[in-house]
Amino acid sequence: MDTKELRKLFERLTIREKIAQTIQLNGSLVVENDVMNTGPMQELGLPSDLNLYEIGSIYNVNDFEKLKRLQEQVLNKTPQQIPMLFMSDVIYGFRTIFPIPLAQAGSYDFDLIRKAAEITAKESYLNGLHIIFSPVLDLVRDPRWGRVMESPGEDVYTAKQFAKSVVTGYQGDCSKGVPENHVAACIKHFAGYGAPEAGREYNTVDLSNQRLFNEYLQPYQAALEAQTMLVMTAFNVLNGVPATGNKWLNRAILRERFGFDGVLVSDYAAVKELVPHGFAADEKEAAQKALEAGVDFDMMTSVYAKQLPELVNDPKIAALLDEAVWRILELKNHLGLFENPYRGLDLPQTGEILTEEAKATAVKLVEKSSVLLKNNGALPLQSEQKVAVIGPYGESRLTLGFWASVSGKPQDAISLKEGLLNNVAAEKLTFARGYNLFDSYDGFGPLKQGIERLNGPIEPAEQLFEEALTAAAAADVVVLTFGEQFLESGEGASKAKLGLPEKQVRLIRALKETGKPLVGVLYTGRPLVLTEVEPLFDSLLLVWYPGIMGGIGVANLLTGKSSPSARLSMTFPRSEGQIPIYGAQLSTGRPLASSSHSDRFVSKYIDESNEPLFKFGTGLTYAEFEGRWLTGVVTEQAVELDYRVKNQGALTADTAVHVYVKQAPAAIVRPVKRLVASAAVTLEAQEEKQLKSQIPLAELIFYDNEGNQHLATGDYQFILDIGGTEDFITLSL
Ligand code: GLC
Repeated sequence: MDTKELRKLFERLTIREKIAQTIQLNGSLVVENDVMNTGPMQELGLPSDLNLYEIGSIYNVNDFEKLKRLQEQVLNKTPQQIPMLFMSDVIYGFRTIFPIPLAQAGSYDFDLIRKAAEITAKESYLNGLHIIFSPVLDLVRDPRWGRVMESPGEDVYTAKQFAKSVVTGYQGDCSKGVPENHVAACIKHFAGYGAPEAGREYNTVDLSNQRLFNEYLQPYQAALEAQTMLVMTAFNVLNGVPATGNKWLNRAILRERFGFDGVLVSDYAAVKELVPHGFAADEKEAAQKALEAGVDFDMMTSVYAKQLPELVNDPKIAALLDEAVWRILELKNHLGLFENPYRGLDLPQTGEILTEEAKATAVKLVEKSSVLLKNNGALPLQSEQKVAVIGPYGESRLTLGFWASVSGKPQDAISLKEGLLNNVAAEKLTFARGYNLFDSYDGFGPLKQGIERLNGPIEPAEQLFEEALTAAAAADVVVLTFGEQFLESGEGASKAKLGLPEKQVRLIRALKETGKPLVGVLYTGRPLVLTEVEPLFDSLLLVWYPGIMGGIGVANLLTGKSSPSARLSMTFPRSEGQIPIYGAQLSTGRPLASSSHSDRFVSKYIDESNEPLFKFGTGLTYAEFEGRWLTGVVTEQAVELDYRVKNQGALTADTAVHVYVKQAPAAIVRPVKRLVASAAVTLEAQEEKQLKSQIPLAELIFYDNEGNQHLATGDYQFILDIGGTEDFITLSL
């Protein structure tokens, strides 16, 4: 519809119709739906005269037929026939569930990440979705926070590349509307949600402006530059003002400084929560402050519905409502909904879901996202070895992670057993559960039945323990699957203690006692504290939550059919006391490594090392890569570096190249060493390539607390990190 037509439609709307457009409800309130809900479905107190078919949007109905019938009712039961927006928590896959974002980021294969996003968009589109609530772009440096799993991790550069890849994969070229097989991205949670004090969910966030501009806002900014069409607000207070009511954040920064003119949706009940935050005296003030802060959709409360009819008697508020509604109508128009309200729903359910290509992409992403943290030669497994696979993840399909359950199905998952049977003769494999993944099914609410059906009965612990030792005794090598179960991370899953359950530690020790080579395969949504058990493993492969093709991808890595290449996207601490701990730290005036002060008076602990257990960027491979700089020049726009990389091993293998910078002294102290470039490289055995790394000067710019840009002159050392080897070149700016 052209803008003039849209304007005419807008002019026809009554106040009631305009307010209805700003309401977003979980679809369970409008249609019969049995999807997980992240908050109470208490009686919302919506006005009794609200026509639910007039609201602007519903979310988390992922059923083709239900959405089609709902849109028909919207068009038949509303005078203005404004199509409803269908959104959903599709975070890392619709039905083809990929590895969690914290895993994907470590692949440094941003083309593959974009391809996975394209598949996710297509599957979502073919199920009638218009918008998906991802990518999550909250920078995270505290593994106590359960939602690190949804984030691309601790590193600014990595998160920016991830943001661009996913938004572009979802939206395609949306300059003339969102193309077929694509959906609009809704990045979240704006802003700083990943830095809650003490890692406690929904807790206070307090960051200096320079930290916001140089780090925490960067990934969102990259997504805005990639034209994300929606942004979701955050639950947290940011520097004393709740993000959802924060005019400085949402207007001065998001809309004016970053130029965002898309739709801002609140997080679940976040408008109403301005009252318990102590920011609004009542819901009326909450409605006014959220609207003044530029929040267009009120998700899952009746605050806008109940309070705006009176508030809009003030012309200023009426104008703000018009602004919000106009953005919502423009979004619907950009999605082509006025021409085709059945976008994605007008096609018969084709076989374009869970295609072979989608699954193959998922296998590749598992292989490129799993991090080989340690290898004393126990991996890859050898074909003649008898292998005891111990632990519930040997056969479990609950490998998708917390957020997959909105549209994913564990039944689609391939177990590690099925994957291994593709690569290893059955007579060489034995499986033993070893311990119960869940100690009880109580407290799982609506999820209980599904989990119990999938995971099976809880068995006697001692029996499982003995069976595991018996299997180990008869094997040449033991593979132990261990870590978290999927409800231990995700929203509402902050932990103060990050060690393993005692039952797992006991089993690891007992398996070590058998004297057989011990390979650990770690399933988790966050970095854990493994300091006590790490020395007991001969090899350690981190697979995070690998998604539906985890069984195939992990089996390929364990048997050497593919070689690990990923790097850690988030630091693994030695103890919780070190948190926050991350790679791009500042020097301090008394760095432990080089201070002239006595041993005592330097930046250190008296009871713990400064070093993490596994640092950001850690990642081994089965091949041997070596790299060195060739040339480096500084141009008007960029630093251009040529380098050579060689695969000195006997296998074709991938590697994720990292380029770090140690920069010149600056008016705002910069990290000692930070990532500024990367490349995903595949080389045949003994193959050597010459490659170019182009680092825009914009990557070297930093901001002061007033938000002014600076570029420090002086010497910059660029570090080429390939397969654990490093080479250095210093250039002057
Ligand atoms: C949740 C999450 C948000 C999600 C929304 C809708 O509480 O914070 O990420 O998109 O509510 O489910």
